[in-house]
Amino acid sequence: MCGIAGYVGFKVATPFVLESLQKLEYRGYDSAGLAYTQNNNLCRLRVVGGVKNLERETFKDVIFSSTMIGHTRWATHGKVCVANAHPQLSNAKDVAVVHNGIVENFEQLKTLLAENGTKFESQTDTEIIPNLMHTYLRENTNQGILDALHKTTKRLQGSYALCVLVKGSDNIFVTSHFSPLVLSKSDAGCMVASDISALPQGKLFKLPDDFFAVLSKNDISFFDQDLNPTNLDALNITNIQQNDGLGGFKTYMEKEINQGGSAIRQTCQNPTMLNILDTMAKQLFLAPRKVVITACGTALHAGRILGFLLKKECGIECVVDYASEFRYFPPHLDTNTVCIFISQSGETADTLSCLELAKSKNAHTVGITNVPTSRLAGMVDFCILTSAGAECAVASTKAFMAQLAVAYLMTQKICQVQNKQCEFCAQDVFDCADMLNHLNTTQTVDEIVKTLKDQQSLYVLGRGLDYTTAQEGALKIKEVSYIHCEALPLGELKHGSLALFNKDTFCFVVMTQKHLATKTINNIHEIKSRGAHVVLLTNLDVEVEADFVLKIKCKDCFSPIFATKILQLIALNLANAKNIDVDKPRNLAKSVTVE
Ligand code: M6R
Repeated sequence: MCGIAGYVGFKVATPFVLESLQKLEYRGYDSAGLAYTQNNNLCRLRVVGGVKNLERETFKDVIFSSTMIGHTRWATHGKVCVANAHPQLSNAKDVAVVHNGIVENFEQLKTLLAENGTKFESQTDTEIIPNLMHTYLRENTNQGILDALHKTTKRLQGSYALCVLVKGSDNIFVTSHFSPLVLSKSDAGCMVASDISALPQGKLFKLPDDFFAVLSKNDISFFDQDLNPTNLDALNITNIQQNDGLGGFKTYMEKEINQGGSAIRQTCQNPTMLNILDTMAKQLFLAPRKVVITACGTALHAGRILGFLLKKECGIECVVDYASEFRYFPPHLDTNTVCIFISQSGETADTLSCLELAKSKNAHTVGITNVPTSRLAGMVDFCILTSAGAECAVASTKAFMAQLAVAYLMTQKICQVQNKQCEFCAQDVFDCADMLNHLNTTQTVDEIVKTLKDQQSLYVLGRGLDYTTAQEGALKIKEVSYIHCEALPLGELKHGSLALFNKDTFCFVVMTQKHLATKTINNIHEIKSRGAHVVLLTNLDVEVEADFVLKIKCKDCFSPIFATKILQLIALNLANAKNIDVDKPRNLAKSVTVE
């Protein structure tokens, strides 16, 4: 979602801030802007569209400032337009603010400020923040900027990461509440960003919730929630996940689909993660437990597969639910419950809220995430890291493969500590990496894409484990190709949806579970007899009437890995055929940090 970058130092700030904003582009955004102090003035540039447009604007001014804040905005309050882009200024043009998150009580605060004469120029929730700051600065001139920021945040409900510039000061003031901010200190100066990958090498610090920091040219001062000066330990990270470019691919999505095998391999080979998995299994699963899994989107689909495996292989009852729904009707959670949270970014607001709920009930918490510095990683009892590397495309592909690798390894480990027979061993999971790299379906995928690219609607169907694969495939197809795509359990067709099927209908059927093949084949007959068309994905050697057959070679239990890769490729190629920017599908953001 939105991205924040700020620099204060010994050099001209523009290249530092623009480079950071470019690194944040993958998160998805619709407008961008920056503010800087120059000649004792607060100046601002804003554009609709990409950081490239913003860069062009910077060429029109002579900017020599060494203090600057920048932002990429993903619209939540107010349409996409320059007036709604950040930074937002106070009426008096003395305070500039960039903000990630949502101020939930902004209408109320806006009304109060308007009654006192503030004129609002945007529809954003953010604009109240510089105006509140201005009010406190005017009231308490002696107590300073930090105090005004502190007082302002006391009025805000919701989530925020804030970066503030004030006329007359060469410092940057920052604070955060349920929205990440990371800071760096190097020879060139001090920087702040909402994502560690947007920061240069140097000493790195993660700002704890409700703490404050003041960045000056050569130092960062930290303050706790009551504004007492405090010290923070620098992060001990040797290997920051960096976006290492397209590497010859046309898009990140294509590159990342191709990295699915290495995501599995690296995850299986991470000794620290394997140790934590081992300790977790021994500490949590020697006793019988109830397991609850929550996540969003693709991560939830990995969770559904984990739930399926835990039940089938270990006999553990699992509740798997959307994080965005879970809190409204949660199951009973207590010290006997293990709650598992899956999130590539580790910053998804809904997932984090469920984690807080679980912690408040003293449940055991396990996180599966790709980002070691994420909020989720820091909050759970056991953090299982996937090693997919930085995922830049909005559509999650290689991270899903790494999450599946963890799902299989975790299941196998729990079976081991519980002395149960598991259908697969750790080496089998590792072997999937190589097999995935050798999956070759290009020709058939091309033909299928030619046939389907003008469809208005598609279905992905399956039974049992294949239905979970269908759900992930349908999500991938709709999010990047903009074709309506619905996943359905095959057995449900006759209970309503079959009414939609006719000679113009195309559906994918995933059939990889031997014991369910007869039933699936019957369903395919029902579909074909309505004149509809079937693209079959299967690892089974059975005769079925289908328009296209995509063959995969794998054990039934590993089919989600292989069938999903094919559906990822179909989604990618459908989007390419429709000239869609697959890496940044419309209206979506990489990391959904608001509920
Ligand atoms: O960072 P997370 O894994 O928590 O993100 C969850 C979803 O927002 C994410 O998987 C989303 O569904 C992807 N765009 C799907 O490709």
